[in-house]
Amino acid sequence: MFERLETVIPDPILGLMAAFRADTDPRKVDLGVGVYRDERGETPVLRAVREAEGAVLAQQTTKSYVAASGNAAFNEAIERLVLGDQHEARLTARVRTVQAPGGCGALRLGAELIRAASPDAVVHVSTPTWANHVPLLSGCGLRLERYPYFDPATGGVQFGDMMAGLERLPARSVVLLHASCHNPTGADLSQDEWRELLALVQGRGLVPFIDMAYQGLGEGLEADAFGVRLFCAELPEVLCAVSCSKNFGLYRERTGALHIVNETTKAADAAFSQLVRLARGIWSMPPDHGAAIVHRVLTEAALRAAWSEEVDAMRGRIQGLRHEVVRLLREHCPQRDFSFIAAQRGMFSYLGITSAQVQALRARHHVYMTDDSRMNVAGLRRENLEYFARAIAQVLAG
Ligand SMILES: Cc1ncc(COP(=O)(O)O)c(C=O)c1O
Repeated sequence: MFERLETVIPDPILGLMAAFRADTDPRKVDLGVGVYRDERGETPVLRAVREAEGAVLAQQTTKSYVAASGNAAFNEAIERLVLGDQHEARLTARVRTVQAPGGCGALRLGAELIRAASPDAVVHVSTPTWANHVPLLSGCGLRLERYPYFDPATGGVQFGDMMAGLERLPARSVVLLHASCHNPTGADLSQDEWRELLALVQGRGLVPFIDMAYQGLGEGLEADAFGVRLFCAELPEVLCAVSCSKNFGLYRERTGALHIVNETTKAADAAFSQLVRLARGIWSMPPDHGAAIVHRVLTEAALRAAWSEEVDAMRGRIQGLRHEVVRLLREHCPQRDFSFIAAQRGMFSYLGITSAQVQALRARHHVYMTDDSRMNVAGLRRENLEYFARAIAQVLAG
């Protein structure tokens, strides 16, 4: 049966990781993999998470199944974190939440629901978007199209072109949006732009599917939820996929959730029952460990305060690095403007250099990033910033 299967070309990021590991030069810098790193280059277990985990394990009396919709207490806590305690959709019982294995699980579950509701629906994603959106959303048979988003000339959002592109879509088209910290570009919508977009989405009857993988790492826990909260309050239907991988550092625990907002409680209940059915057919039950930890962190005041400080520290480190990189690049490459890096948010930026220059960075300076010049800013450290800026200057000089 399987003998005719062809070998799949590995994801380039895996090749990049292997090449980085094999590089023995002590100056090597990994800006490829999309995980947060601290000043020592590590991806630590957050202190609040470590403490909550100890308590979860100490108090756990069974490993029996929880539910296909996951841990209800986690679902409520994450809903409150994303939407805020007093959100209209919560108060009017228009929102339902299903736990999922990470943001990826939530994205796939949302795609399956769209397909079940409307098999011909088209999902429109930004140009560019996170590479894994493509298999996650199209894998269940949905068609994907692109809308303009990133402007390489400014390092910001091509908002006019984006609006013009979306303006042409037929009603019930699905639009995938990044809540904050756009991956891979770091270019986010301003609050005014979210408001303008809302009017367009309302006017055209589009269905937003918001991917929220970085709450807290852009402008702050509240500010990063601005677009999600606005859309969920004002629109009859919204999907939102949430990941706890980055802001709780729970990557391998596969912790996330899918929120769905509907026009009525009845419609919300129906959608919830469909989500449970779909989840049963894919992973049956989501893993509980990470969700139990997140629930504890969010509902115990001291842990929540400690966690919130840790999120602030991660964001502060990223922003600090962004400003330092710009300062050093201005010094070493005065002929080129890299100030957009400080204006962008989250872990990623497109440096805007050619793939030949990316390869020269790797070969000559041991600096690793993907060929499209996406760099994970959190992979930098104060001690190698100068080295990094000099390396960029040298490859730009040819
Ligand atoms: C834009 C975006 N969405 C979703 C995810 C989902 O991550 P996970 O499935 O690990 O929670 C990621 C992770 O890198 C991401 O960058």
